[in-house]
Amino acid sequence: MAKLCVVGLGYVGLVTASCFASLGHRVIGVDKDPQKVELLSSGSSPFFEPCLDELLKEGLDKKLISFSGDIEKAVSQSEIIFICVGTPSKENGQADMSQVEEVSRIIAKNLNSYKLIVEKSTVPAGTAERIKQTIKMSNANQYICFDVASNPEFLREGSAVADFSHPDRVVLGVDSIRARDMLQDLYRDFNCPVLTVDIATAELIKHASNAFLAMKISFINLVADICEKVGANIGFVADGMGHDRRIGRDFLNAGAGYGGSCFPKDVKAFAAVAETLGIDATLLREVDRINEKRISLIIKKAEEVLWVCKNKRIAVLGLAFKCNTDDIRESPGMKLVLELIRKGSSVACFDPKAMENARRNLISHDNQSTFTETPYDAAKEADALVFMTEWPEFFQLDFQRLKQLMRMPVIIDGRNMLCAEKMKKFGFLYVGIGSSCVNEMGLIACDI
Ligand code: UDX
Repeated sequence: MAKLCVVGLGYVGLVTASCFASLGHRVIGVDKDPQKVELLSSGSSPFFEPCLDELLKEGLDKKLISFSGDIEKAVSQSEIIFICVGTPSKENGQADMSQVEEVSRIIAKNLNSYKLIVEKSTVPAGTAERIKQTIKMSNANQYICFDVASNPEFLREGSAVADFSHPDRVVLGVDSIRARDMLQDLYRDFNCPVLTVDIATAELIKHASNAFLAMKISFINLVADICEKVGANIGFVADGMGHDRRIGRDFLNAGAGYGGSCFPKDVKAFAAVAETLGIDATLLREVDRINEKRISLIIKKAEEVLWVCKNKRIAVLGLAFKCNTDDIRESPGMKLVLELIRKGSSVACFDPKAMENARRNLISHDNQSTFTETPYDAAKEADALVFMTEWPEFFQLDFQRLKQLMRMPVIIDGRNMLCAEKMKKFGFLYVGIGSSCVNEMGLIACDI
């Protein structure tokens, strides 16, 4: 079993560390935030992710995982070091690589034996080469050798633990036999294709995959807008397209657009990489632009029904960027709340998991928003109810009760998650995305 060190305990790092420990490896998780280290050492995760707390506790009990702020010591005690620190967007959209660079210098100073340094953070192609140069320049002991490799993650928040255990593929970017053998050994029990490629190819696979998925979403959102103009139904259009195996139905759900810590950042960063290389990235810029416009589309729908949003009470259900997470980064729901506040609405919000994060984030803008204990409290006296995250519990709501509580029975379905026909039967004025209403033959695309 390998001795691993995972530097950076965000989503990727913590899930990677906990999952490798559950496979029997000895893992030291490192983060420079002492509060996070303390919390993790006590067995609690700083964020909600299904099954993660259980894995964490199991790893701590079996003494296979430990947490520390001492990166120097952790590096010197490990064979394989995963770099999982953040690569946030700079103002120009490029990825800010300063954390990766800093970690590389620290690793260089603590090379007491051969180490394999593996980048897992999403990074522009060419990053491994930079890490290598940085380590070579700062390496205190030039006789000790090391390798750098790329092993991009494809974990989705909300199902990250399951994605780790049952990936569609594992990608290993290596430039030495030793690195290849070590990584193939680490992943030998995974029942999926393991692609061993050169490092730049591995780096590109990650950026290209995320950009492609984001492109699918923006594409279907564009088609949804066309559907509204011609009276077609986006749900059926997506189904009809999705039956073509070359296209596939996944990631063709039209709605409020993509959020989260990856797609918005990665599309911008990938475009910036292309442009830096002199390649026209209009396609990627357009993916981003279509996505950015989704919030104003929802506002426009609200204004079409309410005329003005000022002084209206609007209930927003769903603040997490998707269900099964408490993550609000780049969340369409949060963006909508801020835009409604800017327009002078009073906003009542509810989310099953993301309330604390949302409260913290909105505190600086918070003059017109309230957080409620239940979706029903949010709906009280509301002029419109907007669904922004497809939480399973929202499908089970008592819509009769919601309607009675509201001042105006208006539902705006930013995720196209409810059945238009049923909502109409409850007496709501239902507004979906892409004319998701019943056609003349009474066919509907979804059912609650
Ligand atoms: C993504 C990638 O899927 C994962 O492989 C990568 O490693 C990290 O980034 P994640 O950000 O967790 O994962 O969420 P994902 O499930 O991909 O959804 C991203 C966003 O797209 C969400 O806001 C979701 O609501 C939205 N989405 C997704 C749509 O609007 N329509 C869809 O059809 C699918």
